[in-house]
Amino acid sequence: VSAERFPIERVPPAVAAIAQRLIGAGHEAWYVGGAVRDALYEAATGKAVTRTGDYDIATSAPPPEVRSLFRRTVPIGIEHGTVAVLDEGGGAHEVTTFRKDVRTDGRHAEVEFGVSLEEDLARRDFTINAVAVHPGSGEMRDPFDGRGDLGRGVVRAVGDAATRFREDRLRVLRALRFGAAPGFTIEPETWAAVTASAHELSHLSRERVREEWVKMLLASAPARGIGLWLEAGVLGEIWPELASLDAARVAALDGVQGADPVTLTAAALAAAGAGSETARHAAARLRFSNRDAERIEAVVAALARPLPDPEDEIGVRRWLAANLTHYTDISRALPARFRDRLVAAVIAVRLRGAPLSLEQLAVDGSDLLAAGVKAGPAVGRILRRMLDEVLEDPARNTREYLLTRPYLESAD
Ligand code: CTP
Repeated sequence: VSAERFPIERVPPAVAAIAQRLIGAGHEAWYVGGAVRDALYEAATGKAVTRTGDYDIATSAPPPEVRSLFRRTVPIGIEHGTVAVLDEGGGAHEVTTFRKDVRTDGRHAEVEFGVSLEEDLARRDFTINAVAVHPGSGEMRDPFDGRGDLGRGVVRAVGDAATRFREDRLRVLRALRFGAAPGFTIEPETWAAVTASAHELSHLSRERVREEWVKMLLASAPARGIGLWLEAGVLGEIWPELASLDAARVAALDGVQGADPVTLTAAALAAAGAGSETARHAAARLRFSNRDAERIEAVVAALARPLPDPEDEIGVRRWLAANLTHYTDISRALPARFRDRLVAAVIAVRLRGAPLSLEQLAVDGSDLLAAGVKAGPAVGRILRRMLDEVLEDPARNTREYLLTRPYLESAD
């Protein structure tokens, strides 16, 4: 972090080319934001950071000038000065004109262009996010000692924390995300502003809140990230369904396997005693996709029901058949003390090739019709009954056995 030159070799060539073009046209251009922060952190600690976001470019060029300099651009946030420049492969890279806030209501900001790099850095949220890198030389501008804070593992607002959070309440959640990273703490005044703002988050867009929740889960151990939301008084504000979680239950979430945010969200809801309906509504409220909301609902439902005894083969087959679609998610969220034995039992069932779904039955609907069952709901009912018999004993999955069941005759 103390190095005077940023390792610009790490910057993707497509981004570097955009910066060079801006500079070549006589403008200032600097790399800024999360990619700079994460690269400096990696360089200082040797710890890799999982990062999906690209390098952002801040420039003195006004937005219309940015648009005229590149063949393909998309004005993705033009009122805030952000233009996406498309590279050869169609990849989008954000270029934002130096700006300062003139008015904010905690959600939307009105900005003014024509300011210096220093002014632009001064309106950013945290010192660790207010470092600029020159694309040609790797020289760094770091007026708030963001590199020092990165090295010390400190999340500190640029200037007055309370003011920063009033400008944009999402910064409260961002502070918690950065503060939950391994080795980081939130500086006392910034922390005081976080806790003071905990009740002011209701106006934030739910998509943005969901995105921050997911980023937090990806950036830290769940016990630490969710634990920090809890400690800050934010957890119950965003997720009333999780209001009953205490530190001990949050700590247990570290037992969830893998780092999938959807599974973790489900495990948290289950730990808080939410039912599957409640969980689904909560997921929908925070604008999880339908698919993710379904996964959350299925995991919560499975965890709310009794789990089978791993020694009971029939019980394991029935349970697996009922939870087949979301089995992977469910298995990751199982209580740690139980998981290994149940997963082993499931693997054994699968290795034996036992049929688990209607599609795997030796007969299908047309066989039932040919055997004289009337078209209609009876077909599905009989097939489900057959599956139940086969789950009890897989050896029953033959046409001979299934097509001679007495309940075929009596079906209406
Ligand atoms: N920023 C800010 N206030 C916010 C959001 C962003 O001041 N509420 C500034 C920070 O300097 C931040 C930069 O804008 O580094 C880019 O923001 P964004 O891309 O949203 O986040 P990153 O910090 O890049 O981090 P990540 O991609 O990990 O979210």
